[in-house]
Amino acid sequence: MIIARTLPELNAAREALGPLGFVPTMGALHQGHLALVAAAGAAGKAVAASIFVNPTQFGPKDDFARYPRDEAGDLAKLESAGCALAWLPGVDIMYPPHGASSIHVAGPALHWEGAARPGHFAGVATVVAKLFGQIRPEAAYFGEKDWQQVQVVSRMVADLHLPVCIVPVPTVREPDGLAMSSRNAYLTAPERKAAPALHTALQHAVRDIIAGKEVAATLHHARQEVALAGMVPDYIALVHAETLEPAAALVRPARLIAAAKLGHVRLLDNVPAG
Ligand code: PAJ
Repeated sequence: MIIARTLPELNAAREALGPLGFVPTMGALHQGHLALVAAAGAAGKAVAASIFVNPTQFGPKDDFARYPRDEAGDLAKLESAGCALAWLPGVDIMYPPHGASSIHVAGPALHWEGAARPGHFAGVATVVAKLFGQIRPEAAYFGEKDWQQVQVVSRMVADLHLPVCIVPVPTVREPDGLAMSSRNAYLTAPERKAAPALHTALQHAVRDIIAGKEVAATLHHARQEVALAGMVPDYIALVHAETLEPAAALVRPARLIAAAKLGHVRLLDNVPAG
Protein backbone atom coordinates (compact mmCIF):
# COMPACT_ATOMS: atom_id res chain seq x y z
CA MET A 1 0.00 0.00 0.00
CA ILE A 2 1.33 3.41 -0.97
CA ILE A 3 1.08 6.03 1.78
CA ALA A 4 0.90 9.56 0.37
CA ARG A 5 1.15 12.65 2.57
CA THR A 6 1.95 15.33 -0.04
CA LEU A 7 0.35 16.24 -3.37
CA PRO A 8 3.42 15.17 -5.42
CA GLU A 9 3.35 11.78 -3.64
CA LEU A 10 -0.38 11.48 -4.34
CA ASN A 11 0.00 12.40 -8.01
CA ALA A 12 2.79 9.86 -8.52
CA ALA A 13 0.71 7.11 -6.86
CA ARG A 14 -2.36 7.95 -8.97
CA GLU A 15 -0.35 7.74 -12.19
CA ALA A 16 0.96 4.32 -11.17
CA LEU A 17 -2.40 2.90 -10.09
CA GLY A 18 -4.78 3.89 -12.90
CA PRO A 19 -8.56 4.21 -12.33
CA LEU A 20 -9.49 4.38 -8.64
CA GLY A 21 -12.40 3.60 -6.35
CA PHE A 22 -12.29 6.00 -3.39
CA VAL A 23 -13.31 5.74 0.28
CA PRO A 24 -13.08 9.03 2.22
CA THR A 25 -12.84 8.63 6.02
CA MET A 26 -11.88 10.45 9.19
CA GLY A 27 -10.01 7.41 10.54
CA ALA A 28 -10.64 5.42 13.73
CA LEU A 29 -11.59 2.73 11.26
CA HIS A 30 -14.02 -0.11 12.03
CA GLN A 31 -15.86 -2.80 10.06
CA GLY A 32 -18.24 -0.17 8.61
CA HIS A 33 -15.37 1.67 6.91
CA LEU A 34 -13.81 -1.60 5.80
CA ALA A 35 -17.11 -2.63 4.16
CA LEU A 36 -16.73 0.45 1.95
CA VAL A 37 -13.18 -0.61 1.05
CA ALA A 38 -14.46 -4.12 0.28
CA ALA A 39 -17.27 -2.75 -1.92
CA ALA A 40 -14.78 -0.56 -3.79
CA GLY A 41 -12.42 -3.51 -4.24
CA ALA A 42 -15.22 -5.75 -5.50
CA ALA A 43 -15.82 -3.25 -8.32
CA GLY A 44 -12.41 -4.22 -9.70
CA LYS A 45 -10.47 -0.95 -9.55
CA ALA A 46 -7.58 -0.12 -7.23
CA VAL A 47 -8.87 1.34 -3.95
CA ALA A 48 -7.73 4.64 -2.44
CA ALA A 49 -8.82 5.65 1.07
CA SER A 50 -8.25 8.99 2.74
CA ILE A 51 -7.90 9.70 6.43
CA PHE A 52 -8.49 13.33 7.32
CA VAL A 53 -10.27 14.62 10.42
CA ASN A 54 -11.89 17.58 8.72
CA PRO A 55 -12.05 20.59 11.06
CA THR A 56 -14.65 22.49 9.00
CA GLN A 57 -17.38 19.91 9.56
CA PHE A 58 -17.14 20.13 13.36
CA GLY A 59 -19.05 22.84 15.21
CA PRO A 60 -17.65 24.72 18.22
CA LYS A 61 -19.46 22.32 20.60
CA ASP A 62 -18.43 19.19 18.65
CA ASP A 63 -15.68 16.74 19.47
CA PHE A 64 -12.96 17.75 16.96
CA ALA A 65 -10.13 17.90 19.53
CA ARG A 66 -11.04 14.56 21.09
CA TYR A 67 -12.13 12.76 17.91
CA PRO A 68 -10.46 9.29 18.11
CA ARG A 69 -7.20 9.06 16.15
CA ASP A 70 -5.20 5.87 15.49
CA GLU A 71 -3.09 6.32 12.37
CA ALA A 72 -0.93 3.20 12.76
CA GLY A 73 -3.94 0.96 13.46
CA ASP A 74 -5.90 2.50 10.57
CA LEU A 75 -3.06 1.98 8.08
CA ALA A 76 -2.73 -1.68 9.12
CA LYS A 77 -6.49 -2.17 8.62
CA LEU A 78 -6.47 -0.50 5.21
CA GLU A 79 -3.51 -2.56 4.12
CA SER A 80 -5.11 -5.87 5.13
CA ALA A 81 -8.40 -4.81 3.49
CA GLY A 82 -6.52 -4.60 0.20
CA CYS A 83 -6.27 -0.83 -0.16
CA ALA A 84 -3.69 0.27 -2.76
CA LEU A 85 -3.33 3.89 -1.62
CA ALA A 86 -3.79 5.74 1.67
CA TRP A 87 -4.04 9.54 1.36
CA LEU A 88 -3.22 11.35 4.62
CA PRO A 89 -3.17 15.07 3.90
CA GLY A 90 -2.44 17.67 6.56
CA VAL A 91 -4.73 20.62 7.29
CA ASP A 92 -2.28 22.89 5.41
CA ILE A 93 -2.89 20.89 2.21
CA MET A 94 -6.68 20.73 2.53
CA TYR A 95 -7.04 24.33 3.72
CA PRO A 96 -4.05 26.35 2.44
CA PRO A 97 -3.63 29.83 3.95
CA HIS A 98 -4.96 31.72 0.91
CA GLY A 99 -7.93 29.43 0.32
CA ALA A 100 -11.11 31.42 -0.31
CA SER A 101 -13.62 28.96 -1.77
CA SER A 102 -16.11 26.58 -0.25
CA ILE A 103 -19.24 24.68 -1.24
CA HIS A 104 -22.67 25.98 -0.25
CA VAL A 105 -25.29 23.28 0.19
CA ALA A 106 -29.06 23.50 0.65
CA GLY A 107 -31.82 21.05 -0.35
CA PRO A 108 -31.12 17.75 1.41
CA ALA A 109 -28.64 19.52 3.75
CA LEU A 110 -31.23 21.84 5.32
CA HIS A 111 -32.98 19.70 7.91
CA TRP A 112 -32.02 17.13 10.56
CA GLU A 113 -28.21 16.96 10.96
CA GLY A 114 -27.99 20.18 8.96
CA ALA A 115 -30.25 21.96 11.45
CA ALA A 116 -28.65 20.38 14.51
CA ARG A 117 -25.10 21.12 13.34
CA PRO A 118 -25.01 24.42 11.40
CA GLY A 119 -22.24 24.43 8.79
CA HIS A 120 -21.63 20.70 9.12
CA PHE A 121 -22.68 19.73 5.59
CA ALA A 122 -20.94 22.72 4.01
CA GLY A 123 -17.76 21.42 5.66
CA VAL A 124 -18.44 17.87 4.45
CA ALA A 125 -19.25 18.97 0.88
CA THR A 126 -16.20 21.23 0.72
CA VAL A 127 -13.74 18.61 1.91
CA VAL A 128 -15.30 15.89 -0.26
CA ALA A 129 -15.10 18.14 -3.35
CA LYS A 130 -11.43 18.85 -2.59
CA LEU A 131 -10.72 15.13 -2.08
CA PHE A 132 -12.45 14.32 -5.38
CA GLY A 133 -10.26 16.93 -7.10
CA GLN A 134 -7.13 15.42 -5.59
CA ILE A 135 -7.92 11.71 -6.06
CA ARG A 136 -10.07 12.03 -9.24
CA PRO A 137 -11.78 8.68 -8.60
CA GLU A 138 -14.20 7.02 -11.00
CA ALA A 139 -16.40 5.98 -8.07
CA ALA A 140 -16.63 6.98 -4.41
CA TYR A 141 -18.18 4.86 -1.65
CA PHE A 142 -20.25 6.28 1.19
CA GLY A 143 -22.02 4.52 4.07
CA GLU A 144 -25.80 4.55 4.36
CA LYS A 145 -25.17 4.90 8.10
CA ASP A 146 -24.92 8.64 7.31
CA TRP A 147 -27.92 8.65 5.00
CA GLN A 148 -28.26 12.42 4.81
CA GLN A 149 -24.55 12.78 3.99
CA VAL A 150 -24.96 10.40 1.02
CA GLN A 151 -27.83 12.52 -0.30
CA VAL A 152 -25.97 15.81 0.22
CA VAL A 153 -22.89 14.48 -1.60
CA SER A 154 -24.99 12.95 -4.41
CA ARG A 155 -26.81 16.27 -4.87
CA MET A 156 -23.50 18.17 -4.99
CA VAL A 157 -22.04 15.75 -7.55
CA ALA A 158 -25.14 16.09 -9.75
CA ASP A 159 -25.33 19.89 -9.38
CA LEU A 160 -21.62 20.49 -10.11
CA HIS A 161 -21.39 17.77 -12.80
CA LEU A 162 -18.49 16.15 -10.98
CA PRO A 163 -17.30 13.11 -12.95
CA VAL A 164 -17.61 10.58 -10.12
CA CYS A 165 -20.17 7.87 -9.42
CA ILE A 166 -21.45 7.87 -5.81
CA VAL A 167 -22.04 4.36 -4.48
CA PRO A 168 -24.00 3.93 -1.21
CA VAL A 169 -23.05 0.94 0.97
CA PRO A 170 -25.46 -0.60 3.54
CA THR A 171 -24.89 0.08 7.25
CA VAL A 172 -22.70 -2.42 9.09
CA ARG A 173 -24.10 -3.22 12.54
CA GLU A 174 -22.97 -4.87 15.76
CA PRO A 175 -24.70 -8.23 16.40
CA ASP A 176 -27.24 -6.45 18.65
CA GLY A 177 -28.21 -4.01 15.88
CA LEU A 178 -26.22 -0.92 16.92
CA ALA A 179 -24.82 0.81 13.83
CA MET A 180 -21.02 0.75 14.00
CA SER A 181 -19.54 4.19 14.57
CA SER A 182 -16.17 5.58 15.66
CA ARG A 183 -18.07 7.51 18.36
CA ASN A 184 -19.44 4.29 19.95
CA ALA A 185 -16.05 4.13 21.70
CA TYR A 186 -17.23 7.01 23.92
CA LEU A 187 -20.19 5.01 25.33
CA THR A 188 -19.96 3.76 28.93
CA ALA A 189 -20.81 0.08 29.51
CA PRO A 190 -24.45 0.76 30.54
CA GLU A 191 -24.89 3.21 27.64
CA ARG A 192 -23.52 0.62 25.23
CA LYS A 193 -26.15 -1.83 26.53
CA ALA A 194 -28.95 0.69 25.96
CA ALA A 195 -27.74 1.91 22.54
CA PRO A 196 -29.34 -0.76 20.27
CA ALA A 197 -32.78 0.49 21.38
CA LEU A 198 -32.54 3.22 18.73
CA HIS A 199 -32.38 0.70 15.90
CA THR A 200 -35.07 -1.47 17.52
CA ALA A 201 -37.41 1.53 17.74
CA LEU A 202 -36.83 2.30 14.05
CA GLN A 203 -37.57 -1.29 13.09
CA HIS A 204 -40.81 -1.23 15.11
CA ALA A 205 -41.85 2.08 13.55
CA VAL A 206 -41.18 0.95 9.97
CA ARG A 207 -43.14 -2.23 10.58
CA ASP A 208 -46.09 -0.18 11.89
CA ILE A 209 -45.96 2.45 9.13
CA ILE A 210 -45.82 -0.21 6.42
CA ALA A 211 -48.76 -1.95 8.15
CA GLY A 212 -50.71 1.28 7.68
CA LYS A 213 -50.58 2.87 11.16
CA GLU A 214 -50.72 6.65 11.27
CA VAL A 215 -47.25 8.15 10.74
CA ALA A 216 -47.37 10.90 13.39
CA ALA A 217 -48.61 8.54 16.12
CA THR A 218 -46.03 5.90 15.15
CA LEU A 219 -43.16 8.41 15.28
CA HIS A 220 -44.41 9.69 18.65
CA HIS A 221 -44.38 6.14 19.97
CA ALA A 222 -40.86 5.56 18.60
CA ARG A 223 -39.61 8.68 20.42
CA GLN A 224 -41.15 7.35 23.66
CA GLU A 225 -39.48 3.97 23.12
CA VAL A 226 -36.10 5.67 22.67
CA ALA A 227 -36.63 7.91 25.71
CA LEU A 228 -37.55 4.87 27.83
CA ALA A 229 -34.15 3.37 26.95
CA GLY A 230 -32.49 6.42 28.52
CA MET A 231 -31.80 8.45 25.37
CA VAL A 232 -32.86 11.96 24.48
CA PRO A 233 -34.30 11.72 20.97
CA ASP A 234 -33.44 14.70 18.76
CA TYR A 235 -35.49 13.65 15.75
CA ILE A 236 -37.16 10.50 14.49
CA ALA A 237 -38.66 11.34 11.12
CA LEU A 238 -40.13 9.78 8.03
CA VAL A 239 -38.57 11.56 5.05
CA HIS A 240 -38.34 11.39 1.30
CA ALA A 241 -35.18 9.30 0.89
CA GLU A 242 -33.46 11.72 -1.53
CA THR A 243 -34.74 15.21 -0.72
CA LEU A 244 -34.87 14.55 3.05
CA GLU A 245 -38.14 16.52 3.15
CA PRO A 246 -40.42 15.32 5.97
CA ALA A 247 -43.25 13.06 4.82
CA ALA A 248 -46.64 13.06 6.57
CA ALA A 249 -47.54 9.77 4.92
CA LEU A 250 -45.61 7.00 3.21
CA VAL A 251 -43.87 8.35 0.08
CA ARG A 252 -41.56 6.41 -2.22
CA PRO A 253 -38.66 6.21 -1.79
CA ALA A 254 -38.92 6.84 1.97
CA ARG A 255 -36.42 6.58 4.79
CA LEU A 256 -36.89 6.61 8.53
CA ILE A 257 -34.05 8.62 10.05
CA ALA A 258 -33.14 9.26 13.68
CA ALA A 259 -30.69 10.98 15.98
CA ALA A 260 -30.61 10.63 19.75
CA LYS A 261 -28.25 11.66 22.51
CA LEU A 262 -27.05 8.91 24.82
CA GLY A 263 -24.86 10.37 27.53
CA HIS A 264 -22.42 12.56 25.62
CA VAL A 265 -22.75 10.60 22.38
CA ARG A 266 -25.01 11.51 19.49
CA LEU A 267 -26.23 8.28 17.86
CA LEU A 268 -27.48 8.30 14.27
CA ASP A 269 -29.42 5.60 12.51
CA ASN A 270 -31.81 5.10 9.61
CA VAL A 271 -33.66 2.31 7.84
CA PRO A 272 -35.48 2.02 4.51
CA ALA A 273 -39.20 2.67 4.82
CA GLY A 274 -40.59 1.60 1.50
P1 PAJ B 1 -16.42 8.88 8.81
O1 PAJ B 1 -17.37 9.14 9.91
O2 PAJ B 1 -15.03 8.40 9.14
O3 PAJ B 1 -17.06 7.85 7.83
C1 PAJ B 1 -16.43 7.49 6.63
C2 PAJ B 1 -17.41 6.68 5.80
O4 PAJ B 1 -17.71 5.46 6.49
C3 PAJ B 1 -18.74 7.41 5.60
O5 PAJ B 1 -19.18 7.23 4.26
C4 PAJ B 1 -19.66 6.72 6.58
O6 PAJ B 1 -21.02 6.77 6.24
C5 PAJ B 1 -19.11 5.30 6.52
N1 PAJ B 1 -19.54 4.52 7.70
C6 PAJ B 1 -19.37 4.84 9.02
N2 PAJ B 1 -19.95 3.91 9.80
C7 PAJ B 1 -20.50 2.98 8.97
C8 PAJ B 1 -21.24 1.78 9.17
N3 PAJ B 1 -21.54 1.35 10.39
N4 PAJ B 1 -21.64 1.09 8.08
C9 PAJ B 1 -21.35 1.52 6.82
N5 PAJ B 1 -20.64 2.66 6.57
C10 PAJ B 1 -20.23 3.37 7.62
O7 PAJ B 1 -18.34 10.41 7.13
C11 PAJ B 1 -17.23 10.89 7.30
O8 PAJ B 1 -16.21 10.22 7.93
C12 PAJ B 1 -16.84 12.29 6.84
O9 PAJ B 1 -17.99 13.11 6.87
C13 PAJ B 1 -16.21 12.31 5.42
C14 PAJ B 1 -17.18 11.80 4.34
C15 PAJ B 1 -14.91 11.47 5.41
C16 PAJ B 1 -15.83 13.77 5.06
O10 PAJ B 1 -14.96 14.32 5.99
